Amino acid sequence: MPVVVTGATGPFGRHVVEHLLASGTPAADVVAAGRRVERLADLAERGVRTAAIDYADVAGMTAAFAGADTLVLVSGSEVGRRVEQHGDAIDAAVAAGVRRVVYTSASHADTSALVLAPEHKATEELIRASGLAFTILRNNWYTENYAATLEQARATGEVVSSTGAGRVASAPRADYAEAAAVVARTPGHDGVAYELGGDEPWDHAELAATIGDVIGAPVVYREVTPEEHLAALLAAGLDEGTAGFVVALDGNIRDGLLAGGSHDLSTLLGRPTTPLADALRTLAGDAA
Ligand SMILES: NC(=O)c1ccc[n+]([C@@H]2O[C@H](COP(=O)([O-])OP(=O)(O)OC[C@H]3O[C@@H](n4cnc5c(N)ncnc54)[C@H](OP(=O)(O)O)[C@@H]3O)[C@@H](O)[C@H]2O)c1
Repeated sequence: MPVVVTGATGPFGRHVVEHLLASGTPAADVVAAGRRVERLADLAERGVRTAAIDYADVAGMTAAFAGADTLVLVSGSEVGRRVEQHGDAIDAAVAAGVRRVVYTSASHADTSALVLAPEHKATEELIRASGLAFTILRNNWYTENYAATLEQARATGEVVSSTGAGRVASAPRADYAEAAAVVARTPGHDGVAYELGGDEPWDHAELAATIGDVIGAPVVYREVTPEEHLAALLAAGLDEGTAGFVVALDGNIRDGLLAGGSHDLSTLLGRPTTPLADALRTLAGDAA
């Protein structure tokens, strides 16, 4: 059954397409969609259908989604504009006769105080109101979010945060994308909201120690207060909005909003999630 994947020009959507192909979905049954379609040329050569879409263009999306059974709607990256964009994509899916939408949301988006949750919650509500069958993939943090932390630790020997003892159930992007592909190509997921995250949540002291093991040098965890954290980020040159956002996210972690506890991801994958150390080793290798 044809599957259209938005955001296929970004790493998450690309992983979804690759997992669909690797698990036997015929290339002709996959539509890879995104704005920068030049990034999809290699997929087109492999027989994947590609489509240039913009979330601002409902008619263009309707044409691109026509004939698809499932739309994998990878959440957009323009924070603040996403409810309108996702709403337009959902309208296009309805107009195109798509049966089901699979949406990448955020942990406990319907109830969480996570600063990124409101746009995902609003999108989930639009999906439920659309009448389409749906599956919600509430993704915890990507481990890739800590690539900069790893490089900073390499340079300074420190991991600095105001997360306290808060835990993060991260997993690499590819794990979440593989689960999205499983949901897209198998039955039995309609009406379900999965809470997806790593099997073994970690705190920042463990993150520091694990980075130390990976880079082969001592790394210490330096816990700071939110006020100290904000001052340090401003001194490092971040603008006030970005620095405040980072501190707010650390506060969300301190409050346990990303602590996980569900094994939905490993259940969908049929294997344990990729451990923190393995994901960090990949990141360290990519940077080397
Ligand atoms: N859970 C987490 O830790 C975490 C971390 C980062 C991001 N995310 C979310 O996960 C999504 C996918 O991750 P990623 O790493 O692949 O992100 P990414 O590299 O930022 O890719 C975003 C994708 O969205 C597409 N897009 C953005 N605005 C669009 C528009 N107006 N019309 C059409 N397409 C548009 C981009 O298309 P073009 O490149 O062609 O413009 C790109 O394919 C992100 O967009 C974000 O919502 C989650």
